Amino acid sequence: MKERITCFTEYMCTYPKEEGSLIPLLQKAQGELGYISPEIVETVADYLQLTESQVFGVASFYSQFRFSEPGRHSISICLGTACHVVGGEILLETCERDLEVKSGECTSDMRFDLNRVACLGCCALAPVVKIDEDIHSKVNIIKLKEMWSNYE
Ligand code: FES
Repeated sequence: MKERITCFTEYMCTYPKEEGSLIPLLQKAQGELGYISPEIVETVADYLQLTESQVFGVASFYSQFRFSEPGRHSISICLGTACHVVGGEILLETCERDLEVKSGECTSDMRFDLNRVACLGCCALAPVVKIDEDIHSKVNIIKLKEMWSNYE
């Protein structure tokens, strides 16, 4: 991790030291490291001469940023209107209960992180679950549990 932060720091220095660089730097950090760690918040704050709470405040406003280390696979449960009305919430509760993980967190074995999302853009296939880059349509509880076994 320390080596990747060093690489990010070198990249960061190519950006102007101005507030407009904040979002692109956070996006780059998440792309490289998978999440926004406390070290990244501190590093970016120092570089842009902002406080850590200013950086965290901006980052936490946007749902695209995560603040915990991702698992080997990411499960996104759609809770947009179309998915919500046909059982999206039940799918989320099933994941939380059976995988023993809360939304926004990672399982203790680092196998899955679980996320709720607003809309995956394929409402006609509701309810929709995305695992990594795979979109699963018309998911029910039985199908959901079968899907987990395909991701080690
Ligand atoms: S609401 Fe779920 S894909 Fe749009």
